[in-house]
Amino acid sequence: MSDAQITVLASDRSTSPSSHLGFGIDIGGSGVKGAIVDLRTGAFVGDRHRIATPKPATPTAVADTALEIVDHFGWTGPVGLTVPGVVRDGIMRSAANIDESWKGTDLNSLFSERLGGRRVSVLNDADAAGIAEQRFGAGAQNSEGTVILLTFGTGIGSALIYDGTLVPNTEFGHLEVDGKEAEHQASAKVREDKGWSLRKWTKKVSTVLSHYEAIFSPSLFIVGGGISRKGDQWIPLLTNETPVVAAQLRNSAGIVGAAIAVDEGLSF
Ligand code: BGC
Repeated sequence: MSDAQITVLASDRSTSPSSHLGFGIDIGGSGVKGAIVDLRTGAFVGDRHRIATPKPATPTAVADTALEIVDHFGWTGPVGLTVPGVVRDGIMRSAANIDESWKGTDLNSLFSERLGGRRVSVLNDADAAGIAEQRFGAGAQNSEGTVILLTFGTGIGSALIYDGTLVPNTEFGHLEVDGKEAEHQASAKVREDKGWSLRKWTKKVSTVLSHYEAIFSPSLFIVGGGISRKGDQWIPLLTNETPVVAAQLRNSAGIVGAAIAVDEGLSF
């Protein structure tokens, strides 16, 4: 399988009962969250464990936190991890909303070493969410054509999936719309910082989505991030032609996608 084409449609895996379990960790700006995942259903087995992201959030400090989370569960198997940046050939290539020192970090070596030499897979957070939604959530019934998943949080993350195949590291949040990066005008953080109503923010989101529509002609947008919980209040206000649905896995999508990625040996 090539790095650029990762099929995320359900595969027919023959597995023993214990290999139905996987482990994912989602590294975010405010929290590092992990859980054991039932890979047949995408559901957590037990509770999710969250630890506040260390400050400063340097790679080694975050790797220590990842170890704490894995130890909390006594998990000894492979671990998938998400990061909020571009991951190519196992190296972090960007650091828009995380400590600058991540840029150039060899993620596979860092996490594998800190987690006792076990197998790890590290991927972009929105790509992980895209994999999970495609497999178990909002994309599962609508997998044909071009599906764009967007996560609205501190930034705007993106996953581009064509006929069930993920094209990793798309970074649509950094596309310029009307002369300004999309995530600097329509992320959930911008709404919070400016104290905008949902209606006002939704107008900005419509503008950004129109731009993506003009370039990619998607058949579906899936919108995620914390603000998708209020999706029924703002998705109907969008003025776009393309159908828009709320992500279904909510804040578990990153963890589930990471667990799938390492289980299936996906490398980025
Ligand atoms: C980063 C992306 C990330 C997104 C959501 C953006 O600023 O560049 O890589 O997926 O934020 O965390």
